[in-house]
Amino acid sequence: MKIGVLGTGVVGRTLGTRLAALGNEVMMGSRTAGNAAAAEWAQSTGANARHGTFADAAAFGEVVVNCTSGVVALAVLQAAGAENLRGKLLIDLSNPLDFSRGMPPTLSVSNTDSVAEQIQRAFPEARVVKTLNTVNCEVMVAPDSVPGLHNLFLSGDDAQAKEETRRLLQSMGWLPASIIDLGGILTARGQEMYLPLWLSLRGALGTSRINIAVMVGQ
Ligand SMILES: NC(=O)c1ccc[n+]([C@@H]2O[C@H](COP(=O)([O-])OP(=O)(O)OC[C@H]3O[C@@H](n4cnc5c(N)ncnc54)[C@H](OP(=O)(O)O)[C@@H]3O)[C@@H](O)[C@H]2O)c1
Repeated sequence: MKIGVLGTGVVGRTLGTRLAALGNEVMMGSRTAGNAAAAEWAQSTGANARHGTFADAAAFGEVVVNCTSGVVALAVLQAAGAENLRGKLLIDLSNPLDFSRGMPPTLSVSNTDSVAEQIQRAFPEARVVKTLNTVNCEVMVAPDSVPGLHNLFLSGDDAQAKEETRRLLQSMGWLPASIIDLGGILTARGQEMYLPLWLSLRGALGTSRINIAVMVGQ
């Protein structure tokens, strides 16, 4: 599958490497075609990897993954171009973390809205699914780095898009039983508002190799 990864940070590089190793063709997008991190990533990742602008990567991908901050995601996707997102599965793993007032970060959007909803409203012809933002990128690509059955969540209005996302997650090692469909895109609010708890857990436990397991009573 052809996948456009928007973002040259640690998440874009980690996810892009894993997706390329699984046999997908991956193009990493950046604000500039010659981004040094993207060029280095493409060279070290091999034949399945290439890089370009956000628009190049979005046009290339049958699936597009937003791996940029929730604070800049709309600007990134505008640069990617609505025409390059039309009809496509657009996976959003961003978090609305605003570090501008120091630590701990605040949420730039919450309660009555979410980044994923903003994206779906701005790009109504894209099929947006929120997932993966609740785990560190090392766990995203290697769920068995955390023992036992632990969960990931899906939020999105398009059932087929969520099914395609499920298959992609399973290709990275996520077990079918670990993936919980929360419902429509509005449920992304909960996934994004989980981040303050995740940050506290990381502080308390001293590791990013953490995830939550949802236990269900009789
Ligand atoms: N760290 C994790 O393990 C983890 C886990 C789950 C979710 N997330 C989320 O994943 C996302 C990516 O995190 P990250 O740390 O890998 O990357 P990041 O530093 O948040 O984002 C890097 C990307 O943002 C672009 N960018 C920065 N400022 C911009 C602006 N003003 N306008 C347009 N684009 C801009 C950069 O473009 P250039 O390429 O041109 O520099 C780069 O491609 C975040 O939303 C984060 O919360 C992270």
